[in-house]
Amino acid sequence: MATHTTTTAGILSEGKTAEREELLELLKKAYWMEIETVMSYIANSVNPDGVRAQEIIESLEQDIEEELGHAKQFAARIKELYGVVPGSSDFQAEQTYLQPPEHQTDIVHVIKGVIEAETGAIEHYNRVIEFTDGLDFVTQDMVIAILRDEEGHRRLFEGYLREYEAEGLA
Ligand SMILES: [Fe+2]
Ligand SMILES: [Fe+2]
Repeated sequence: MATHTTTTAGILSEGKTAEREELLELLKKAYWMEIETVMSYIANSVNPDGVRAQEIIESLEQDIEEELGHAKQFAARIKELYGVVPGSSDFQAEQTYLQPPEHQTDIVHVIKGVIEAETGAIEHYNRVIEFTDGLDFVTQDMVIAILRDEEGHRRLFEGYLREYEAEGLA
């Protein structure tokens, strides 16, 4: 780890090196989750066909920008904590549930996939918030704000799913 001036309090203090390393791993995971979500949402905002797809497309187009913003925030925080933002060779895809459906009119597949991605983010970010409690309030504050975005995304898509369920289509 690169030399840096230590402080006597917080995540950058000398005695917190092990915790900082552990936090960096959590932040790298978060970074990759956001990057993969950007990829998945781009594909799923372009592929869907049909009249009913339009609302989902527009919603995902807006989310892409937010998820990209999250990825950039995680990257910046990794650097601030003396980590290095990983290169693309380290990327491992995990969103099996957000692969293109067999039929591009299958909007329910996309909605359920988005809900699963957002749920995964919500779970990981809650873990980061708990880990940083009393340790790194800056990261915690940042991740709390991001968590709110993800909760909003999930709520929106749960609403879409409800409509399909009410019509017996999901
Ligand atoms: Fe995000
Ligand atoms: Fe999200």
